[in-house]
Amino acid sequence: MSLEIIILAAGQGTRMRSALPKVLHKIGDLPLLEHVHRLATSLGPEKISIIYGHGGEGVLASLSHLDTLWVEQRERLGTGHAVMQVANEIGDAATVLILYGDVPLLGHETVENLLSLTEDGSLGLLTVCLDDPHGYGRIVRNALGAVLKIVEEKDASLEEQAIREGNTGILAVHGGRLKQWLGRLDNENAQGEYYLTDIIALAVQDGVPVKTAMASTVDEVLGVNNRQQLAHLERVYQSALAEKLMTEGVTLRDPARFDVRGAIESIGQDVEIDVNVILEGQIKLGSRVRIGPNTVIRDSEIGDDVEILANTVIEKSVVGPGCRIGPFSRLRPDNVIGEEVHIGNFVEIKNSTVASRSKINHLSYVGDSIIGSEVNIGAGTITCNYDGANKFQTIIEDGAFIGSDTNLVAPVRVGRNATIGAGSTITKDAPADTLTLSRARQATREGWKRPTKIKRD
Ligand code: UD1
Ligand code: CA
Repeated sequence: MSLEIIILAAGQGTRMRSALPKVLHKIGDLPLLEHVHRLATSLGPEKISIIYGHGGEGVLASLSHLDTLWVEQRERLGTGHAVMQVANEIGDAATVLILYGDVPLLGHETVENLLSLTEDGSLGLLTVCLDDPHGYGRIVRNALGAVLKIVEEKDASLEEQAIREGNTGILAVHGGRLKQWLGRLDNENAQGEYYLTDIIALAVQDGVPVKTAMASTVDEVLGVNNRQQLAHLERVYQSALAEKLMTEGVTLRDPARFDVRGAIESIGQDVEIDVNVILEGQIKLGSRVRIGPNTVIRDSEIGDDVEILANTVIEKSVVGPGCRIGPFSRLRPDNVIGEEVHIGNFVEIKNSTVASRSKINHLSYVGDSIIGSEVNIGAGTITCNYDGANKFQTIIEDGAFIGSDTNLVAPVRVGRNATIGAGSTITKDAPADTLTLSRARQATREGWKRPTKIKRD
């Protein structure tokens, strides 16, 4: 069976009240349309077409990386009219699956079930049972339960409006048949639109069986029309991810206060995640990693037994096993942190490597640096890596001890086991195994008296 997928995405999304086209709004930091495109790709189709609306150039520009055929629907004359835009592209022998760019959480299994209905030439329709079917097309069946047609709410009789089985819009159909039926659609209905849903009655007329599959949850077939629905589906999406992680053995202190905006590529055993943690981009977590509250980690790899304390931000970094980071640490992009390194509060590190067992515990800035192993960097140490025009490197070799409140003016090298006296400004290389300091000598004046306030009359 050759599968062709058509994704309808020409809706204006007026109720989003947004300058951004609706399908570019995000769930889990991925545009709605991209969720749908991923699902489509996972089904291994011959072809994916996306129908975008007039003025939808922004959609193309943002999602030009998608492997798809983009087709503009200049006038929005209904879902049937939308599919007509690609009628010439549809293969006669193909099975055509219709998806929607604003229905982001549809499950792979549900679609597989739907597609299996078409194997004998039937038309497969995905329906959903709703407590409140308001706004949905209703599935009209005969006394034996066979589907007769779909009636849109605005065209429905009172009796039909009472039907609680709604049309999700998602369907799978034989390509050749679909093309014939598209040619027979008209717009004589309450909305003056070409309804794709009218092909159901045409199938029945032509003796093509219509079979239905049920969505496993209502949420999986919900569309996004406003910000409330966007927030709802974001929560549904996050809950599902949290459930999956807990099933895999991750402790989440509160699954409702945990967000993944990207992909967890791998995660070890007995990971513990406290509240308000956000994982963004591509993330790898080793075993027994503990992540404290209010922590954001983006595009990073965290080794086994790492402890990340509260309010830490880590971006595009590799953190080796056994490190302790935070509270209040900030790792900016491009760091490689070795084993058992300690990075403490109000420490910012950027584009640096820090080798095993080094400590940077308080109030420091380390940028463009290579730090050896077992280095101790005292409180308030700053690498002065920028002269206003260019960036320079600081190298601190193994075992060096940097006294508190030191300025290291790059380019500069501190040798192996060197000690820098507290309060120094180091502008030249400090040799190995020595003490280097640069500060005014301390003086004491015996007999000196503090001035007193002069009395004026
Ligand atoms: C449609 C179905 C209805 C179903 C409901 C589920 C029809 C006639 N009705 O109704 O049975 O219960 O979806 O949500 O199909 N679109 C285009 N071009 C158009 C019109 C629509 O691309 O000219 C796209 C929209 O972007 C949207 C989807 O099709 O993603 C559905 O369109 P919408 O106008 O929301 O259809 P409904 O009236 O809700
Ligand atoms: Ca709709």
